[in-house]
Amino acid sequence: MFESIQAAPADPILGVTEAFRADPNPDKISLGVGVYQDESGKTLALECVNKANEKLAREGASASYLPIPGLAEYTAAVQSLAFGADHEVATGSRAITAQTPGGTGALRVVGDFLAHNMPGATLWMTDPTWANHPNIFNAAGVSIAKFPYFNKATNSLALADMLDAIGQIPPGDAVLLHGCCHNPTGVDPSPSDWEQIADKVYDRQLLPIIDFAYQGFGDGIEPDAAGIRAMARPGQEMVLCSSFSKNFGLYCERVGAATFVCTDADRANVVGSQVKRVIRANYSNPPAYGARLVSTVLGDADLTHEWHIELAGMRDRINGMRKLLVEKLAEKGVPGDYTFISSQRGMFSFSGLSKDHVRALRERHSVYIVDSGRINVAGITPSNVDRLTESIADVVGGGQ
Ligand code: LMR
Repeated sequence: MFESIQAAPADPILGVTEAFRADPNPDKISLGVGVYQDESGKTLALECVNKANEKLAREGASASYLPIPGLAEYTAAVQSLAFGADHEVATGSRAITAQTPGGTGALRVVGDFLAHNMPGATLWMTDPTWANHPNIFNAAGVSIAKFPYFNKATNSLALADMLDAIGQIPPGDAVLLHGCCHNPTGVDPSPSDWEQIADKVYDRQLLPIIDFAYQGFGDGIEPDAAGIRAMARPGQEMVLCSSFSKNFGLYCERVGAATFVCTDADRANVVGSQVKRVIRANYSNPPAYGARLVSTVLGDADLTHEWHIELAGMRDRINGMRKLLVEKLAEKGVPGDYTFISSQRGMFSFSGLSKDHVRALRERHSVYIVDSGRINVAGITPSNVDRLTESIADVVGGGQ
């Protein structure tokens, strides 16, 4: 039965991790997938999560199934964190949130929801976008298209082109935006840009879908939610896909959520029933443990305070590595101006390295980054930065 099946291509991001694992070079460097590593290159659980873990172990919890939309205390916390505890979306009943297996699970639930309930709608994505976005929505049967987002020549947001393109999208379609720390470019709209984007999206009667996977990795929990809050206008509909993989370091627990903000509570009940239907036909109901950890931390003032400090520590380390990377690229004589890397936000640096450079880095130096030239800055450490920048100097033809 399986004779005629052709091999699928490796995943553009997780395939890089597979290739890294298979490389016997003891000095290999992994800067592909977006996973935070500490100064010693380890991905350890946060202390606040360890404490939540102990608390859960002491208390014990039911091993029965969760409801289809997940834990109520968790989904309430998701809304408060994204919109603000006092925001009408979080305090009222016009939004429904379903706990999902990671942010990817949230996006797939949204994809299935669009395919079933808005079958003629095209989903428009930023160019470039996270490599898995097209994959997820294609798999759900949603037709996709792209609009300009990034100006390669200036390494900045192509705001005018973006607004112009959004202004031409047919009403009834959907647009996929990144809430903060755009993946892969690290270039975000400013708060005033977000207001213009919201004006355009709602004038055109488009459904905004916001992927929000890096809250706290840009400027902080609150400032990173500015885009979400600009889009969350009274009476307007939107969808939010949250992930706690990065900001809680819960990569392997798969903790995410899909929030559908509707015009009123009656609509939210109808939409919620369709969301439950797509979840039941997919994974039935979500895994409990990661969401219990997140809601334990967010339900306890001391643990929440500790989380803020640990998150700031990760953010500061990444920003420190951005500066160090720029300095070392100059020190090793890599031609070109890489100072733009310091102002990119989040985990990634969109380095401008070509596919050939990426291949040469892998083949000649066992340095693994994504084909688009995206570098996971959260994987750079004081001990690997010299080897990394010397390798870059070698492949781009610089060097001391
Ligand atoms: C990434 O972009 O590296 C992360 O979002 C992890 C993933 O699943 O691709």
